[in-house]
Amino acid sequence: MLNAIQNRRSIRKYQSRPVPQKLIEQVLQAGSLAPSSKNRQPWRFIVYTGPAKTRLMLAMEQGLQKEAQQPLLPESAPYLASAHNTLRIMQQAPALIFILNALGQSLQTNLTMDERVSEICNAQSIGAAVQNMTLAATELGLGSLWICDTYFAYPELCAALQTEGELYAALALGYAAENPPARPRLAMKQLTEWRNE
Ligand SMILES: Cc1cc2nc3c(=O)[nH]c(=O)nc-3n(C[C@H](O)[C@H](O)[C@H](O)COP(=O)(O)O)c2cc1C
Repeated sequence: MLNAIQNRRSIRKYQSRPVPQKLIEQVLQAGSLAPSSKNRQPWRFIVYTGPAKTRLMLAMEQGLQKEAQQPLLPESAPYLASAHNTLRIMQQAPALIFILNALGQSLQTNLTMDERVSEICNAQSIGAAVQNMTLAATELGLGSLWICDTYFAYPELCAALQTEGELYAALALGYAAENPPARPRLAMKQLTEWRNE
């Protein structure tokens, strides 16, 4: 698995070759094996391929167009162009896994401290599940891209997804059509303090 950690890249160009369902199932299984706070397993997955994916991407496109006129995320306007790029990647990828938080309450304003802690712990658990999926994809010879630009088209995607859970992220999956170099990382000494006395 250390190899998968080293070799994983965000893949933004995909071959049209479909991903066998067995491989998608293995990726989902890896997600479900992640640790979760109080073993709540808050994640839910919806897999989109074929015409269902095409329809969902139309909803996302409409959401991005609306975002330009009536922004939901006004301070993120500089990133809207890259969200259009993410949409193109999602259109190209043969499979998309949408990741939902079945217990999500991040859109509620009056959370108690307990609810807030629970929300943060569930969000960390879901992050672990998505990371497990990206690593499993790498090990299975697949490319993947963790996506949160979905937030720019949040109402449209939620309406199209027709589900109770709160949308957290999407994961594009497919055979890579690029081999990008590793993106730069901060040096360990910028990240870490060792304290022993
Ligand atoms: C929470 C999260 C959200 C992300 N959302 C997007 C996205 O919407 N579009 C995109 O192209 N990349 C997205 N990425 C990928 C990051 O840009 C990428 O992980 C980072 O640049 C490091 O590159 P690497 O994954 O190849 O190491 C996201 C990554 C994470 C962890």
